[in-house]
Amino acid sequence: MTTVVIVDNLFGDSGKGRFVDYLSKKAKMVVRSGSGPNAGHTLVVNGKKTVLRQIPSGILHSHTKCVLAQGMALNPNVFSDEVSKLVEAGVKVNDRIFVSDAAHLIMPYHIEEDKKREEFSENKIGTTKNGVGPCYEDKMARCGFRIGELSDLDTIMNKVRMVLKRKTTVYDYTLLASYLHLAAKTFLPFVTDTSKLINQAIDSKDDVLFENAQGTLLDIDHGTYPFVTSSSAVAGGVCTGAGVGPTRINKVIGVMKAYNTRVGSGPLPGEFQGETADKIAEIGNEVGSVTGRARRIGWLDINSLRYAHRVNHFDSLAMAKFDVLTGLPVSIINENNALITFEPWHEDISKIREYNQLPKNLCKFIEYIEQSVGVRVSIVSVGPEREQTILREEIF
Ligand code: IMP
Ligand code: MG
Repeated sequence: MTTVVIVDNLFGDSGKGRFVDYLSKKAKMVVRSGSGPNAGHTLVVNGKKTVLRQIPSGILHSHTKCVLAQGMALNPNVFSDEVSKLVEAGVKVNDRIFVSDAAHLIMPYHIEEDKKREEFSENKIGTTKNGVGPCYEDKMARCGFRIGELSDLDTIMNKVRMVLKRKTTVYDYTLLASYLHLAAKTFLPFVTDTSKLINQAIDSKDDVLFENAQGTLLDIDHGTYPFVTSSSAVAGGVCTGAGVGPTRINKVIGVMKAYNTRVGSGPLPGEFQGETADKIAEIGNEVGSVTGRARRIGWLDINSLRYAHRVNHFDSLAMAKFDVLTGLPVSIINENNALITFEPWHEDISKIREYNQLPKNLCKFIEYIEQSVGVRVSIVSVGPEREQTILREEIF
């Protein structure tokens, strides 16, 4: 039995979803412990692309249970859209998706607040405008609403009226009532005590994957504050978000691309522009999967990776998108903040499935990272498809 946390080292969009999907072949349960529809986890299986925002990336394997735990902030419209697309694609969802009664509900006024703030504040964060930040603010202010409360619509509506008295914007109560009605219809069939479910799975010696969202440098406590998301994106956050004790976690895997990207405002170490950046953006399709915004491009930066290792303590790393860098002057910012450039590789790597068949120049780049960060790279992806994955050691 193994429990594995998958966390992003940097600014998200590194391929957590695809690695979770790949590793779900063996896992019995996949758990999302935090954030909500701000996340976009892209999976490609047999040429078909699936973008998941709230549902865990294990859903395409019919044997996995998928858990939306209490650290999450959930939107019913996004959820029902995700579910119907999965059902349309022939994926069975009944008895496979479990939603925590204690997860928070994103309200229409959260989305309004998020949008308004982005429009009018001087310090624009560049949020995804999904209302996730304002939802967590209300959670911390103890005036948020939990999914379980939807079982009593009259009481929740009265409480909403009280909460709205202290907000400045005027809301349409009829619309709110129908939103709550829809949220109840959408979520209640899936609601359960998810912490209990997860701990029972661990007791039964099931392999469990925890899929964190966003990235270490977007974490509310450890990221590039204030340019961060509003929830925990580091490995430790999985314990509070899912309700499992730290001693029950066996492994932590840090995911990153072979280069760096960031969507939204805030510092991006190693950021650069020009022809190579444009090529990376184009070949790597570096546009936000939720917002469609262009992602900024940077080289990896050893100090950021060491920092991510410090706050997450990885057992190993998973690296994606080497195929994007084929033929390019691959570079990295070293520990002294100087730029090092590697000899490019030119071979087509998309069909390689053994580590020792990868081009020597690519391996030199990986080995440099392993030595500088002090962690082994255990998984390498060479293309967007599930099977374009090289596993150097068993994870489960
Ligand atoms: P929010 O999470 O929508 O409040 O946005 C806060 C910051 O986190 C912005 O810079 C977003 O672009 C970024 N962000 C949120 N979710 C993701 C994600 O899934 N991938 C990458 N960046 C994200
Ligand atoms: Mg993403």
